[in-house]
Amino acid sequence: MLVFVFSLAALVCTTAARPSLNYLQNHFSAVEESEEVRSAAIKRLLEVFGMDDPPSIHGHKQPPQYMLDLYNTVADVDGVTKDPYLLEGNTVRSFFDKLQSEQVEFRFNLSTVARSEKILTAELHLFKLRPQATMTFNRHHFCQVSVYQLLGSTKTNNTQEKKLLSSRLIPVHSTGWEVFTITQAVRTWMVDEGSNLGLHVVVRTLGGSLMDLKLIRFASGRNHHQSKQPMLVLFTDDGRRSTTLESIDPDDATAASRLPHAPMSVPPSRSARSLDHSDEDGTSMPCQRLPLYVDFEEIGWSGWIVSPRGYNAYHCKGSCPFPLGQNMRPTNHATVQSIINALKLIKGIETPCCVPDKLFSINLLYFDDDENVVLKQYNDMVAGSCGCH
Ligand SMILES: *[C@@H]1O[C@H](CO)[C@@H](O)[C@H](O)[C@H]1NC(C)=O
Ligand SMILES: *[C@@H]1O[C@H](CO)[C@@H](O)[C@H](O)[C@H]1NC(C)=O
Repeated sequence: MLVFVFSLAALVCTTAARPSLNYLQNHFSAVEESEEVRSAAIKRLLEVFGMDDPPSIHGHKQPPQYMLDLYNTVADVDGVTKDPYLLEGNTVRSFFDKLQSEQVEFRFNLSTVARSEKILTAELHLFKLRPQATMTFNRHHFCQVSVYQLLGSTKTNNTQEKKLLSSRLIPVHSTGWEVFTITQAVRTWMVDEGSNLGLHVVVRTLGGSLMDLKLIRFASGRNHHQSKQPMLVLFTDDGRRSTTLESIDPDDATAASRLPHAPMSVPPSRSARSLDHSDEDGTSMPCQRLPLYVDFEEIGWSGWIVSPRGYNAYHCKGSCPFPLGQNMRPTNHATVQSIINALKLIKGIETPCCVPDKLFSINLLYFDDDENVVLKQYNDMVAGSCGCH
């Protein structure tokens, strides 16, 4: 482990510094070239957020309350994850029903879900409305609500085949959200998009006969307020693993530049870091964590990001001189390196680097290309503390 911590330190502190300065000077001479740098930097930042292009959003949409509540449960006001074990995967996607049928039939377009995304759980959320007043004196107290996956119609006779996914007893007089787990169906839709013919909900009495649909009603996208629209919620994982500090591959130059360190007009972060090091004031103060606010509005992303408006990534700055106290959180390796540097035993050995030694994840609530609201967790986005490494 020491070996690649050292290679990483060497990469960040020294070797990268010189060429990037030249790069900067050349590129900032012309306006259109700085535009080029800006768009390259923003493209790179989009990659950090797992996207090729920023989603295009037409007009103002209201995100589902469920997604807003979920976001507020997993994230603090800055978007930083409150509890990393709350979500099993790193993505939650919501979809509105595309069918808007008068029948209790629903269809969701899952084309924005990547093939590589692992479906952990899929839920159908239906808003049960209050029974109509004239029907309230009914002898039934409970009803059996069943969700079926629609399969193709058979060749021999024209009846539509369907498969039972989930079934539950629900009080007739209840009102509010009802959630049905339909994970298996969504997994088959992901394998074969053409098999997604939708869902059908059937309500029966406890005796098994079909119930009057005036008595048991669910809100539809067509006739009811959008806050009550039928919704599919997918809990998934896109497989983007955390690069913990212990597991950074020294050959992977991008690993060292995971955090967006700099104002957006400066190209990728290693150059930003090299500027810090050439800054003479910076070397006199001891290694510490300083604010670095990433403002999504400034970057031009406020149209598609619902929350947060921006976040504090923090950055690490300062010197790591001999002797390294415990407040510098030095690794043993850094302590030895600083001793070698102080004793000048070997030429060309610098003091250790001031770098993030704990990183936190942030959450983004955003609209995707199909205007579905997505909650996604991104690892290693906020420097939790800094240390001499
Ligand atoms: C699903 O949405 C995508 C993109 O919006 C569209 O191209 C596709 O035709 C839709 N599929 C269905 C079955 O409606
Ligand atoms: C249609 O086919 C299904 C199964 O293939 C069978 O259960 C059903 O009774 C048939 N209906 C008619 C009207 O023949």
